[in-house]
Amino acid sequence: MSQTDRLRSCKAIPALRPVAIKLHVKCIKRAALNLLNAFGVPAMVAIVCAIVFGDDAPERVVKLPAAVDPAAWGGDHVHQPMPQFITGDECLFCHRTNIGTTWPRNRHFLTLRSADPKSPALIALRENPSTREFADQVQFLLGGNHQNRFLRRTPDYGRLEILSASWTPPHGGKAGRLARTDAPHWDDQTFGKSCAGCHASGVDSQTLAFSAISLDCFTCHGDVDLEHSKDGKLAILSPQRRDPPRVVVSICGQCHIRSGTSRSSGRAYPNNFVAGDNLFRDFQVDWSDKHLDRLEPIERHILENVRDVALFEKNDLDCLSCHAVHEQSTEKHQQLAERAICNNCHLPDQPKAKTRPLGGRRIRLCGY
Ligand code: HEC
Ligand code: HEC
Ligand code: HEC
Ligand code: HEC
Ligand code: HEC
Ligand code: HEC
Repeated sequence: MSQTDRLRSCKAIPALRPVAIKLHVKCIKRAALNLLNAFGVPAMVAIVCAIVFGDDAPERVVKLPAAVDPAAWGGDHVHQPMPQFITGDECLFCHRTNIGTTWPRNRHFLTLRSADPKSPALIALRENPSTREFADQVQFLLGGNHQNRFLRRTPDYGRLEILSASWTPPHGGKAGRLARTDAPHWDDQTFGKSCAGCHASGVDSQTLAFSAISLDCFTCHGDVDLEHSKDGKLAILSPQRRDPPRVVVSICGQCHIRSGTSRSSGRAYPNNFVAGDNLFRDFQVDWSDKHLDRLEPIERHILENVRDVALFEKNDLDCLSCHAVHEQSTEKHQQLAERAICNNCHLPDQPKAKTRPLGGRRIRLCGY
């Protein structure tokens, strides 16, 4: 299909009302992406204007913000050393009353944690004859309600090995179960090469060593200047400073886009990303509708929000419009006005108490 054919088929769509507007916007976006690839930004803007303001432009078409090059602003830390950041313990020395009270229960803090011998996962590992011998070697557990993995340190600094077997916690009336128990073995490559960047902090893409277990304050707040204790605005993500949405979606997207690739390292996690950087200078993402539509609702709402901000400069909504990270709450999302992103989880024209099925998630990258 040529570019003009694509455009023509887009214009044909309003004839299909009442399927209407949503499809149309989607279609324009798709064409916009194709055009962006083919002709670059200036031609794109001209063509989009022609569509939106042209004579035969259908009325009620939502004006499409010009698609921008998502890599155009800001900097990155590719090929630079990871900063020597202040650790969470040091931050919590001063922030123990506001942040320290909830942090020990935060999923970000807990994604990788010391293994409790009395946890159901470890009990199951010990009780299974084929995995029994590994149970005493396990030092860390990784994961939440969907799946847990077993890990231990290697002799090298900042490295872990991961056990092939995994534990699926009980859910929806189904008992928990161990999986991949045939020929269980330790693997000293996978965690560093494929997981560390999103489940540990300060990973150096060259050595694949991390500087802190699990997700430290650094992953979201970056290399905080201690001068911030006099001027809170110096700290990234400080509510006083209101970072622009593109900064926010870069920070959250470094881990929550689970379908990207670093151009420079080829890995599924970003190369030396530091909060405040532009993720999209090095992290490649498939922005197409086709890709978005293949994702299940939770993954899809994330990428749709990131795309709206990074590509279409829709700056009225980012992750923090709906999520309170330290409170682990999405309560505030219920106050928002209806818009396209809601349909990832709710059904159009139905009461909001109803949602699509949001459980049963399958993410190949994370092995569950
Ligand atoms: C691009 C970042 C990224 C990479 C790389 C990555 N993960 Fe994840 N992983 C995440 C995020 C984000 C979540 C939490 C998503 C959520 O809760 O919606 C997660 C969740 C998980 C969970 C917990 C699921 C649950 O809710 O119980 C496990 C287990 C997991 N990952 C294992 C792995 C393993 C093993 C690897 C390496 C083979 C890996 N991940 C690589 C980002 C990543
Ligand atoms: C997963 C990302 C993430 C991590 C990790 C994280 N934070 Fe935050 N933090 C945020 C966000 C987002 C906000 C802004 C809250 C808002 O906009 O409502 C915030 C706000 C704050 C605030 C200001 C709170 C307020 O309401 O005035 C402090 C202080 C803070 N974080 C400290 C920490 C410390 C200390 C750590 C590590 C122990 C940490 N954060 C780890 C995302 C994170
Ligand atoms: C020496 C004590 C101290 C340390 C260490 C410290 N902070 Fe702070 N922080 C403060 C004080 C005091 C404020 C309030 C500044 C203000 O209100 O202007 C603050 C404010 C903040 C804010 C903004 C809150 C707001 O209301 O806007 C964030 C975010 C934050 N700190 C994160 C961190 C992180 C992350 C670390 C570790 C890397 C850290 N702080 C280490 C004392 C500290
Ligand atoms: C360095 C990687 C990383 C960054 C940065 C990050 N997350 Fe996460 N996030 C994770 C992982 C991993 C989990 C899952 C932890 C688990 O269950 O094992 C998670 C869990 C969550 C969850 C589900 C648990 C909960 O708190 O309700 C939400 C929501 C979430 N993240 C939102 C955000 C937002 C918003 C931001 C940006 C401010 C952000 N995350 C930044 C890696 C990250
Ligand atoms: C329009 C509001 C909205 C926006 C914008 C939004 N989210 Fe969400 N998100 C939600 C709601 C509501 C849920 C809760 C779903 C549930 O409870 O099952 C959710 C769920 C999640 C989860 C899974 C939580 C879990 O418990 O497993 C993650 C991770 C997440 N969002 C990350 C993000 C990130 C990262 C961004 C920004 C790129 C973002 N969200 C933008 C509303 C939003
Ligand atoms: C990522 C999934 C997700 C997205 C996106 C989302 N919601 Fe929700 N919403 C939920 C879930 C799950 C609930 C159930 C309660 C909860 O967890 O907050 C809910 C509950 C609600 C409720 C309360 C319904 C009731 O009667 O209890 C309202 C109102 C609501 N959402 C509005 C919206 C609006 C408006 C948008 C778009 C701006 C939106 N939601 C986007 C998942 C989502």
